[in-house]
Amino acid sequence: MAFPAGFLWGGATSAEQIEGAYDVDGKGLSTADMMTLAENGAPREITDAIDSDKFYPTHDAIKHYEHYAEDIALFAELGFKVYRFSMAWTRVFPNGDDAKPNQKGLDFYDKIVDLCLSYGIEPLVTIQHFDTPMGLEKYGFWQGREVVDLFVRYAEVLLRHFDGRVRYWLTFNEINNMSTMPWNAGGISLDASENDKMQAAYHQFLASAKVVKLAHELNAENKVGMMYNGHFSYPNSPDPADVQGTEDFQKLMMFYADIQVRGKYPNYKLKEFERKHIVLPEHPGDKEVLAAGTVDFVSFSYYLTHVTGQKTQGILKGLNGLETGYTNPYLKKSDWGWGINPQGLRFALNTLYYRYEKPVMIVENGLGAYDEKDANGQIHDDYRIDYLKQHLLEVEKAIELDGVDVMGYTAWGPIDLIAASSGSIDKRYGFIYVDVDNHGNGTYQREKKDSFAWYQRVIATNGRSL
Ligand code: BG6
Repeated sequence: MAFPAGFLWGGATSAEQIEGAYDVDGKGLSTADMMTLAENGAPREITDAIDSDKFYPTHDAIKHYEHYAEDIALFAELGFKVYRFSMAWTRVFPNGDDAKPNQKGLDFYDKIVDLCLSYGIEPLVTIQHFDTPMGLEKYGFWQGREVVDLFVRYAEVLLRHFDGRVRYWLTFNEINNMSTMPWNAGGISLDASENDKMQAAYHQFLASAKVVKLAHELNAENKVGMMYNGHFSYPNSPDPADVQGTEDFQKLMMFYADIQVRGKYPNYKLKEFERKHIVLPEHPGDKEVLAAGTVDFVSFSYYLTHVTGQKTQGILKGLNGLETGYTNPYLKKSDWGWGINPQGLRFALNTLYYRYEKPVMIVENGLGAYDEKDANGQIHDDYRIDYLKQHLLEVEKAIELDGVDVMGYTAWGPIDLIAASSGSIDKRYGFIYVDVDNHGNGTYQREKKDSFAWYQRVIATNGRSL
């Protein structure tokens, strides 16, 4: 039996992609709340203020703020052992730097956490997932050193408040998105210089390390992970120059994980900074901070793989659909053009586990697809079942054949949610359908797709039914 007893099966969401209620009960505006829907071929726009003529998908999202009890009951029915979700900094500290936390924000997360626990579901909390408070703009968002301690203070409130109830934490969702989607990652402009992005990333590394140390001091049971946006790449050809180009590409992403696992910048990154005249905003004592805050486990999202080589282009643009200038002719593509590569997940698990020798967890994986109802109003999403099944079979091989220590698997978007890249909901990931369209029209009713019963059985049999 490949999947070990206690394997953490579940699903993953983020606050801004499901909650809605963006200005309710004292919540402040976050960077996510300023992003419009991508429409008519144009990407999401980031506005300076809320423009009443534009549509902002996070403002209502799927109204989880109202439907949370029903949603978590459905997750329990699926048999979740773990539920990964994020807490919104702007519910707890509406501006990020308020004197006191907002009790109503904590009350909301009390309800989520307690409900999960009442169903025997382990909460796994992401402390920041793409939603830096707009109130931190005056510091330059994550470019400002002040934000490090403001984040640590926010995290400390969570760690103390949920002590003994939440044991699994992730500091930043996909920290390596600072290179690809800096606005989502930390309020940094899309055309920011490399120097500015590296400065903001430096502050996130420091903040994360401080939180890891604090979490361990507060409760030895706390386990804190890093979360890597799974960029893994194959060389375009065996030409040594293509292999070297791929290695160079991989380092642009992997250095984030190297720092959070090993507690220091790798020499290859320091050499690159020297060449590019990038200077880190280092203060005395920072090296010790990084060294003292290494993570307990490595988590990652996995949707696709890249092909790279000596002429890799555009590597620093886009969320997951990175334009590298190469394509993989062996893979079928999703409705959104993402190459479907189950075997790549085994490759990813091996790469991370044998690079770091820390437990690994897949905290996002899934198929964003158009779902159509049949004449009876049912959704037969056999394509989603097939996608998930093929990926999970590769997880099984990584455990069984390769000996990788895999802690768990949380499917992305167990309930349909707002896509991060486009803001649309018609890129559906869920086992649970939400009756709403891209512009917020609909009943918001929850309905089970065929994949619901399928995943329920996978969990109930600990993967034996795959
Ligand atoms: C991950 C993010 O990169 O990709 C999620 O952590 C996001 O927030 C997911 O939703 C899938 O991307 P998209 O654009 O399909 O939502």
